[in-house]
Amino acid sequence: PIPVIAIDGPSASGKGTVAQRVATTLGYHYLDSGAIYRIAALAALKQGIDWQDEMALAEMATHLDIRFAAGEIYLNGDIITEAVRTEDISRGASEVAVHPALRAALLDLQKSFRKAPGLVADGRDMATVVFPDAGTKIFLTASAEIRAERRYKQLMEKGIHANLADILQDLQARDARDSQRSVAPLQKSENARLLETSHLSIDQAVNAILDYSRA
Ligand code: CDP
Repeated sequence: PIPVIAIDGPSASGKGTVAQRVATTLGYHYLDSGAIYRIAALAALKQGIDWQDEMALAEMATHLDIRFAAGEIYLNGDIITEAVRTEDISRGASEVAVHPALRAALLDLQKSFRKAPGLVADGRDMATVVFPDAGTKIFLTASAEIRAERRYKQLMEKGIHANLADILQDLQARDARDSQRSVAPLQKSENARLLETSHLSIDQAVNAILDYSRA
C-alpha cells in the first residue's frame, strides 16, 4: 500500500508546518484535513446553510468543488486561501466538525489524497479514522500556553493585533470542543508516537518524525 504518515494533534501545535516540511523532504503529497473542515464551514456560509444543519452540510459536502494548487485553495474556482483562515471560520470549522454525517461525507475526499509515492496527512483523526492503516502515526502536541504563544507570534508577524490571553482562552475552548465531541474526538491513537514539541524547534520535530518513519 501507498505509505501514509498520519500526524494528529491539537490546534496551533505546529502540526501544519511540521507536516508540510516532512512531506517536502520525502517528496510526498500533503493533506491539510483541517482546511477541508474550514472549506466546509465557508461553503456553508456562502450557501446560507446553518453550521448546525447536519444533513444539509453532509449533502453539500458530496458536491464540493475544491482544488489545492501551488499553495492556494480554490472553491468553485475562487481563491479562498485567506478566507478560510479567519477566526470566524476557525470557529465554524470546529462547529461543523462535530457532525458525524458531515465527517462521513468528507471521508472519500480525504482518502483520495493518498497517491504515490506517499502522503503526509495532518489533522485530528488521521490515525484513528481516515488512515487507520498508516505506517507512521504521530500525536504532536505542546502545552496550551506554548501553543497560544506560537499563534500570537504568527498573528504579529502578519501584522494582526491580538491579545495573548484571548488566544489562550479560544484555544482552550476549541481543545475542549475537539476532544469532547462524540465522533472522532481528538485523542492519541493507541499505537501513535507521542511527540511533545513544547521544547523542540521545528527542525527537531521534523527530524524526529523522519526518524520514526524510517524505523
Ligand atoms: O489551525 P488549527 O490547528 O487551529 O485548526 P485546523 O487544523 O485548521 O482545523 C480546524 C478545525 O477543524 C479543528 O478545530 C477541528 O474541529 C476540525 N478538524 C477535525 O475535526 N478533524 C480533522 N481531521 C481536522 C480538523
